[in-house]
Amino acid sequence: MTAQNILVAVAWPYANADIHVGNITGSYLPADIFARYHRLKGNNVLMVSGSDAHGTPITVRSDAEGVAPVEVYQRFHARFLELFKKIGLNYDLFTSTHTENHEKVSQSVFLALKENGLLYEEEQQQWYSPSLKKFLPDRYVEGTCYICGYENARGDQCDNCGNVLDSTQLIDPRAKEDGSTPELRATTHFFFDLSKLQEQVVKFLEAREGYWRPNVVRRSLGWIKAEGLRGRPITRDLDWGLRVPVDGWDDKRIYVWFEAVIGYLSAPIEWSQITGQPAAWHAWWTDPEARAYYFIGKDNIDFHAILWPAELIGAGAQFAQIFEGTADKPLNLPYDVPANEFLNMEDRKISGSRNWAVWALDALERYDPDPLRYYLTVNMPETSDSNWDWDEFVARNNNELVATWGNLANRVLSFAHKHWEGQVPDPGDLRPADEAVLAKVEAGFESVGDLIESAKLRAALNAAMRLASEVNKYLDDQAPWSQVKEHKAEAAKTIFTAIKAIDSLKLLLAPFLPHTSEALHQILGYKEPLFGRQYTEALEDSFGIHTALRYDGAQASGAWAPSQLEAGRSFNAPTPLYKKLDPEVTEQERERLGS
Ligand code: MF3
Ligand code: ZN
Repeated sequence: MTAQNILVAVAWPYANADIHVGNITGSYLPADIFARYHRLKGNNVLMVSGSDAHGTPITVRSDAEGVAPVEVYQRFHARFLELFKKIGLNYDLFTSTHTENHEKVSQSVFLALKENGLLYEEEQQQWYSPSLKKFLPDRYVEGTCYICGYENARGDQCDNCGNVLDSTQLIDPRAKEDGSTPELRATTHFFFDLSKLQEQVVKFLEAREGYWRPNVVRRSLGWIKAEGLRGRPITRDLDWGLRVPVDGWDDKRIYVWFEAVIGYLSAPIEWSQITGQPAAWHAWWTDPEARAYYFIGKDNIDFHAILWPAELIGAGAQFAQIFEGTADKPLNLPYDVPANEFLNMEDRKISGSRNWAVWALDALERYDPDPLRYYLTVNMPETSDSNWDWDEFVARNNNELVATWGNLANRVLSFAHKHWEGQVPDPGDLRPADEAVLAKVEAGFESVGDLIESAKLRAALNAAMRLASEVNKYLDDQAPWSQVKEHKAEAAKTIFTAIKAIDSLKLLLAPFLPHTSEALHQILGYKEPLFGRQYTEALEDSFGIHTALRYDGAQASGAWAPSQLEAGRSFNAPTPLYKKLDPEVTEQERERLGS
């Protein structure tokens, strides 16, 4: 098998709030499972993302706290890095949009579109506050909703009737910051002429209709058919953001969504520079055989399935000429956008502001990463919204992780360690039942692998766990604890078979449960770890210092294959992989919600 170049592109979290379990299962965790699998398979994976540092989500918070936007971004960015290390999200690079490189790449895309005649300037009416002496972004203006009459509607959206609003039509508008009455003033912006790219974007989407999740492709094509693609403003009257690369535009900034998606290109370029191989990113961006997978939540579909492909198509070969050192080749369009739906919390919508959420860093104070990853994977909202239920979390941990998988590994290895002095017993010839159970487990490398490759991670994990149940059934049938008393040779066959099955299951489960699979891998006496090491690094440029998460590559790359464990091999006495949870935690956890 020749190695494939796989770009794992993960949604960039806004650096204005902590990350909750809904965010994790929505995009970051599926990306990590997918990336770990492909690394084990021996493919060339590059998994990138970063903090989305600009735009009003950041400034609304910095205004409320009375601190600079950069301070808000740095604080949450640092917490993201801490979380990702703890829960084991192995980014090759997790950087930020607030870097010199990202600005340069974004400006190059902007200029390429401009040269290709896809940008135009147009005057708009925008609220301006004479007392604050500035234009007000839509969500900085409040007033009465012109649709339902609700008095505290935001300029961009009414929380009462849920409609997206045209802020200039708000009745009795007032500036959120000081309550002053704003006035409408003319302001000029750059618009991205998406109408010129409609045909190509539709063609791009239709070519993917066969294999994308139907809801993702249907939603995207539905939007285009309903409204048609129209010009969208891609600059804003703000001072926090990336500079517009055109003379006379110093007081405006590039629209946050326009530049954030460019991170999927700028991060691989930054990674190439950091690792001292400046052209390496071409393997993922201009090799026509490479595949790019975008892991995002459903609220981001149009930005990834329409806006970003349109930017890539529109910039075309022009980008190569503007961004120096680039070969004159087209940039790859998304291969797949396996967007997830939403996770609810105890049957209600997750709400950060009302604290109706399980915060990931907080939960890691009380639970190990793998039980959290396990529950978030069996419950992943792949095809419809799903629900986090604390009773179910405890039950799944106790009945599945502990009972089906953890105990299997623990009782077999303890028993083997005791009766064969810490060595894998010599089985002699295997019996048909031994061969049958091994064949079942070994077939998992194909069936579980195929499911992961098509981003059906729930089904993949369930399939792997079913194989663990098969091994339990085999053990119950053989009953080696009785065999050992009368026919130790029979028990040796059983235990050899079981250890070999466990060694394979360890790999089948490794993308999902990397920490415990790594621990088991060591118990089984392997010297090289399954996965590489993740660490933080401080990087400096004209924007200042930004810390980034880095990954030093897979040690056991190519390990995705049935166990080759041999008789006589030494292994260590096992320690339990998982802890049973007291059902009482359910009550305690529910009390935390909403408080
Ligand atoms: N920051 C956005 C959010 O949290 C996601 C941005 S994805 C990107 O919803 F690609 F645009 F960066
Ligand atoms: Zn309304």
